[in-house]
Amino acid sequence: MKTTRRGFGTIALGAAVGAISGTSVFSRKAPAQTRANHANGVYDNGIIQLNQNESARGPGPKTMDAMHSHTTKRVGRGYSPDHVNELRQGVADYYNISTDNVQLATGSTPLLQGSVRAFCSADKTFVTPMPTYSTSLSTARKLTQPKIELPLGSDLGVDLDSLANNGEGAGLLYLCNPNNPTGTVHGPDAVEAFVRRVMRENPDTYIHIDEAFY
Ligand SMILES: Cc1ncc(COP(=O)(O)O)c(C=O)c1O
Repeated sequence: MKTTRRGFGTIALGAAVGAISGTSVFSRKAPAQTRANHANGVYDNGIIQLNQNESARGPGPKTMDAMHSHTTKRVGRGYSPDHVNELRQGVADYYNISTDNVQLATGSTPLLQGSVRAFCSADKTFVTPMPTYSTSLSTARKLTQPKIELPLGSDLGVDLDSLANNGEGAGLLYLCNPNNPTGTVHGPDAVEAFVRRVMRENPDTYIHIDEAFY
């Protein structure tokens, strides 16, 4: 996942431990359940929810063993793991950018929420295609920030022109690429052209590019 913007080139790495700090992996009866069924303790015959990385089978036994034997307080499990600064430095060196432009988090959810909090406000709209991954939109809703939801194109892909057309007065444009849940993807040239257009036409508008599935 990448938050791309001049002066805010944030590369977000969800530490592997992020995946196991949530509850779903350890509640083995509950992978891929609808939220309602999960809340009600119904563990089968539910509609499978496929838009949030769940595997209907859950992790295999070897994966579970490895996670149990390697997860300690020192590698996460609710607290920052060791070597965060070294990792941050390593990422900055790799991309030849300042560590100020590298933000790490356990999973990408805090970063998705953070960019909405940072760049949207009562007069800075949050703009998103829909359907797409909805953490950012949920955050904007919770904060009662103004928001625009744009329909996908007829191919179920994100309409980059429409997103850019709504850049004026926006605080943040959200682009999920590949788009979850439709699985459509824009290549680097199209994404770069989109980013350059927004930077040119609306230099105060930020773009959050979520490449969780890239
Ligand atoms: C597109 C997309 N972005 C972000 C996330 C959140 O990822 P994380 O579990 O690392 O917070 C997901 C999870 O399914 C996702 O599908």
